[in-house]
Amino acid sequence: MGSPQVKIRLPQDTANSYEWNAFVRYSIDVLDTIDGASKYGEINEGEVFLEIEFIPIENAEELVEKVLKDRLKKAKKETEHMGLALMKNSTCFGCHADKATHTGPSFSEIADRYENTSTHIVSLSNSILEGSKGLWGNTEMPSNPDLTVSETEQISKFILEQGAKKNNWIIPGLEGTFRIIEKPKNIEQGFYILTASYTSTSKMRGQDSILLNIR
Ligand code: HEC
Repeated sequence: MGSPQVKIRLPQDTANSYEWNAFVRYSIDVLDTIDGASKYGEINEGEVFLEIEFIPIENAEELVEKVLKDRLKKAKKETEHMGLALMKNSTCFGCHADKATHTGPSFSEIADRYENTSTHIVSLSNSILEGSKGLWGNTEMPSNPDLTVSETEQISKFILEQGAKKNNWIIPGLEGTFRIIEKPKNIEQGFYILTASYTSTSKMRGQDSILLNIR
């Protein structure tokens, strides 16, 4: 029993090279010996995530190729943040997204409101455990009695860190479109690393990382 195979697909004509501000259409192929294949509709798309990481190169004198090679190697080996893994395992993504507001506030809104300090981690962790109402609006967040305090603290840390990364996104689903940012004034070059991952029903994780070149 191996890890699921995951592959990111982009339109072939782009050669993984995009202009600033361009839309990037992607799809993710998943193949797992037990769960089946995404092309036959056998994969639960709620278990498939694309992580998009922006890499600014402020000074092209840097050894760009080396930096990128190292980052890509790191992305390929990287294990998932515990907090993210726990959220994927729970119901959170049914109501929350990284940068978009759904039933609950986005990670980005949460990170804008609370600084990443131990006091806020404790209070967020408590909201997740006990449920919450009235802090953001009239909709209630149900309690999560099946999580432990150390788990909800991991999750809170993850939400605050990820929410604060304005140019990095996490999007669930087997396909979609995202938009490359406008060129920041202070940088010479930019790249994105895309990492797609799938966690199978037998809790095996497969992933794929690729590099996008921004022109
Ligand atoms: C049924 C929808 C729903 C689910 C499922 C859900 N949330 Fe929420 N969440 C909300 C809503 C609505 C709020 C805003 C509550 C309020 O106004 O106090 C919220 C608020 C939050 C906050 C901010 C709390 C604060 O103190 O400001 C965090 C953090 C959070 N959710 C994390 C999670 C995590 C982690 C999970 C999964 C374990 C989760 N949520 C599952 C709807 C949901």
